[in-house]
Amino acid sequence: MIADHLPKEFEAAQDFMPLLGTDYLELYVSNAKQAAYYYKSAFGFQSLAYAGLETGNRDFESYVVEQDKIRLVLTSPLKSGTSIGEHIDKHGDGVKVTAIWVEDATYAYKEAMKRGAKSFMEPKTESDNQGSVVRSGICTYGETVHVFVERKDYNGIFLPGFKEWNPAYAPASIGLKYVDHMVGNVELGEMNTWVKFYEDVMGFAQIVSFDDNDISTDYTALMSKVMSNGNGRIKFPINEPADGKKKSQIEEYLDFYEGPGVQHIAVATDNIIKTVTALRDRGVEFLRVPGTYYDTVLDRVGHIDEDIAPLKELGILVDRDDEGYLLQIFTKPVQARPTMFFEIIQRKGAKSFGKGNFKALFEAIEREQELRGTL
Ligand code: FE2
Repeated sequence: MIADHLPKEFEAAQDFMPLLGTDYLELYVSNAKQAAYYYKSAFGFQSLAYAGLETGNRDFESYVVEQDKIRLVLTSPLKSGTSIGEHIDKHGDGVKVTAIWVEDATYAYKEAMKRGAKSFMEPKTESDNQGSVVRSGICTYGETVHVFVERKDYNGIFLPGFKEWNPAYAPASIGLKYVDHMVGNVELGEMNTWVKFYEDVMGFAQIVSFDDNDISTDYTALMSKVMSNGNGRIKFPINEPADGKKKSQIEEYLDFYEGPGVQHIAVATDNIIKTVTALRDRGVEFLRVPGTYYDTVLDRVGHIDEDIAPLKELGILVDRDDEGYLLQIFTKPVQARPTMFFEIIQRKGAKSFGKGNFKALFEAIEREQELRGTL
């Protein structure tokens, strides 16, 4: 659906590695059982699959939740001294794996390795009575990895080794549809290293770039480049901090995550007012821009279909580009450390990322940093 009307820049990407979409995101968390409850209760995810003691797995436990095309895997260790536990000790809760759905996970791995990727996992076939799945993996920024998933010969609920998880507790979905983009924060001076990685290793093209003239307030500056695969289904913006008067939100992230990692996951909805109302009712906290933002927003973006009153009430932001407009809002960080957060986005033609909102948004983030004493 997203690939139907792509701007010309996408054609520049060489699709030697066809990617079908995001397969799942795996978060290493300190308490997977409670995290699953949070994502179901607050974000409207549905129970899907489980692996752990009850499936004969004594090392770690995973709960898989889904909403339309989004699948989150929440994983915790069941004992000390595991690589999962070490990851959590260093980074806190966060995204470890961005799994990408491919036709051929062996081919994707070989192509990536030939082009200079560092291996995370050699191609491996796992089977059960529902068929088999091939997975392979490469490293990206920090300790984050991409896993290629080939599931054309599999009919099971999620992956071999998982069983259906169908508890009675099942809060309603809130209309989240798919992962629109996923943003990584990397260290100062490293953005272009990772831009080149996505170009060389995965055949992505850079579709947008922002520098500190676009994205700066009195205190904070950052630079960002958006990388996309050829069909536009996978978009990975990459941020690095730029010099500001005080500590930027990217530096705050890097300090608390103790290295590069996933900053935010943007999830799409067809009705942002309904979705954000439900999220707020369920206790999700959002960044707020000053009410004065709405005094001038229509002068900036022109006509929009939505009434301004509910947008203002909920704190939803609006931006426009050549092709249409978008509505977006950002949650506060969703774990103890001020690291990962979510963006809720509704696209009405626009394919950009909300550049016109950056200033108002960063000022809102700085107010939060001030409260945390990290500005
Ligand atoms: Fe975003």
